[in-house]
Amino acid sequence: MKEKRLVLRIQEYSYDELDDEARMLVERARAAAGDAYAPYSAFRVGAALLLENGEVITGNNQENAAYPSGLCAERVAVFYAGAHYPGVAIVALALTAFRRDVITDEPAYPCGACRQVLLEAENRGNRDIRLIMAGRNKVETVSSVKELLPVSFDKRFLE
Ligand code: THU
Repeated sequence: MKEKRLVLRIQEYSYDELDDEARMLVERARAAAGDAYAPYSAFRVGAALLLENGEVITGNNQENAAYPSGLCAERVAVFYAGAHYPGVAIVALALTAFRRDVITDEPAYPCGACRQVLLEAENRGNRDIRLIMAGRNKVETVSSVKELLPVSFDKRFLE
């Protein structure tokens, strides 16, 4: 028997320690969360992604009375980018959340389905996407989606 062990490399910053690019994306994600449509969960999520061409795309969660028909903030942003800027790689994506209009102390992490979609975007763009997961003053980053979704399923299996 062989056992594989994985190491998760996750960086933790205070808000003030962030570099300008990350801080700008966190600000944009916080603003985007304010426009979320989340009447059922009262959990507003905002995402802001930076494209390689310098464009910033934001998204927020869009809920539905038929619960599974809604979509997470990350996928709203990533699919918008894919639809309007096909072929332009994503450099970084910031994520933040508010519970009943109060920002969460702990960073919100992307759900499993969003990790899978972000992985596809990373592979499609052929460059690592930095994920910036921001709580009120605690910000965690990973340098690639693969950190959060190791041992993953992708197009290699379909070839
Ligand atoms: N949500 C996101 O927008 N992103 C995530 O990664 C986790 C969950 C949304 C979906 C739903 O509208 C609300 O948060 C509660 O799950």
